[in-house]
Amino acid sequence: MLQLDRLTCGYGPFRAVTELSLEVPDGSVLALIGANGAGKSSTLMAVAGHVAVMGGRVLFDDADITAEPARSRVRRGIALAPEGRRLFPDLTVQENLTVGGYSRSQRAEARNVERVMALFPRLEGRMKQLAGSMSGGEQQMLAIGRALMAEPRLLLIDEVSLGLMPTVIDVCYAALARLRDDGLAILLVEQSTQRAFDIADTVCVLESGRAVWSGTAEAAREDPALVEAYLGLAG
Ligand SMILES: Nc1ncnc2c1ncn2[C@@H]1O[C@H](COP(=O)(O)OP(=O)(O)OP(=O)(O)O)[C@@H](O)[C@H]1O
Ligand SMILES: [Mg+2]
Repeated sequence: MLQLDRLTCGYGPFRAVTELSLEVPDGSVLALIGANGAGKSSTLMAVAGHVAVMGGRVLFDDADITAEPARSRVRRGIALAPEGRRLFPDLTVQENLTVGGYSRSQRAEARNVERVMALFPRLEGRMKQLAGSMSGGEQQMLAIGRALMAEPRLLLIDEVSLGLMPTVIDVCYAALARLRDDGLAILLVEQSTQRAFDIADTVCVLESGRAVWSGTAEAAREDPALVEAYLGLAG
C-alpha cells in the first residue's frame, strides 16, 4: 500500500533521509528504528506531506503522491500521530478528536468517536476534560485516537512508548494490534526495540538518514548484534 522509492527528504539543503526504500502492505506493521537524529521522524513527516521531498517517490495504492499536499494525503487515508503528540492542550478531548476528523462528515465523526472509545475505554467520560490536564498515557491514547478520526488506512505513529509506563504501553500496543488485525497498515517509530520487534512484521534500521538494515522482525529478534551495532541501546 505504502511504498517509498529511494526517498530523499530534508530541510533546505540538508538531507535528513537519503534514498530510503521501503514498503508497508495492507494489514502489516513496519517499525522504523535508529538512534536520535537518524531521520525517523523526518521519514514519517515526509510520508504525511510535512517535509520537503528532494528526490525519489512516495507511492500510496500505486498512486504517486510525492507532490501532494498533506490534506489530500489525509483524504486518501494517511494519518499521523506525531512526535510529542501535538495535542491542543487548551481544547477538550472532544475538540481534539473533532480536529482529527475534519475531513469527514458529522455522522462519521460520531461513529469514529465511538470506535476510539471502544479502543481506549480510559478516554470514555472524559470528553469535556482539557487535553492538557490528562496524564501522559491518556494523551498518547488521545493522540492515536485523533489520528484514527480521519479513518486512515495507513497510520503513522512516532515514538509510541516514549515516557509512558509499561501498563500504558501495553494498552497502546494492544490497540495497535487490533487495528492491524482489522487491516490497517502501520508505520511506527519506536525507541524500545523489544516493543518494536514484538509487533512488527518488518523492521528498518536508519543510521544518519540511510537504511542500514531491513528485514523481518523475526530476523531482527534473532540477530543479537543488530541493536548494539546500530543503536548502542539496550533493548
Ligand atoms: N525542522 C528542521 N530543520 C532542520 N533540520 C531538522 C529539522 N528537523 C529535523 N532536522 C534534522 O534532521 C535530522 C533527522 O532528524 P529526525 O527528527 O528525523 O530524527 P529522529 O530519528 O526522529 O530523531 P529522534 O530519535 O531524536 O526523534 C537531524 O539531523 C535533525 O537535526
Ligand atoms: Mg524523532
